[in-house]
Amino acid sequence: MQDDLERVLFDEPTILRRLDEIAAQISNDYRDRELTVIAVLNGSIVFMADLMRRIPLPLRLDCLSVASYHGKAQTSGEVIFKQLALPDVTDRDILIVDDILDSGHTLAAVCEKLETAKPRSVQVCVWLSKKKQRARCVDTDYVGFEIEDEFVVGYGLDFRERYRNLPYIGVLRKELLQQSSE
Ligand code: IMP
Ligand code: MG
Repeated sequence: MQDDLERVLFDEPTILRRLDEIAAQISNDYRDRELTVIAVLNGSIVFMADLMRRIPLPLRLDCLSVASYHGKAQTSGEVIFKQLALPDVTDRDILIVDDILDSGHTLAAVCEKLETAKPRSVQVCVWLSKKKQRARCVDTDYVGFEIEDEFVVGYGLDFRERYRNLPYIGVLRKELLQQSSE
């Protein structure tokens, strides 16, 4: 799998250090409240599991299964909620956790949808945020790393459902992206 990468962006020690920092920040901000983590599947699964084990507070976990990519490297703009029922977030302090903020379509749709259930508060935590002009604006409260506008894989992030199990994050070779988007 490493041969498919142009370069490694964040190695394991770097990821672990940053996890400790964000978890400390979240733990401090939510110390007097009961936190409900809403993980946006599948990409956030590795990050969410590592993050929540570093937050020593009573917390609840719910997952939201969403698709927006359909196996291509570019977003379609259409966000599909794969489950019928939304998690019960009414009057809860929710923290939406996602892997990466790209066009903003996914997180904007997730925030809008969850707001309809009247949570007490909504904050957004993304592991990676691409520095780019977004199709939809999303306010983030916690960001792991800001990255350039490149396609990255590993640490939960996939390309066509592969590479999620890499313990580091790397930039996928451009020719692989092009071959598969035809
Ligand atoms: P958005 O709706 O364009 O913001 O995209 C959000 C979703 O697209 C993320 O949750 C990822 O699943 C996927 N995505 C966007 N950029 C990348 C990337 O560089 N690598 C892997 N997945 C990505
Ligand atoms: Mg994905």
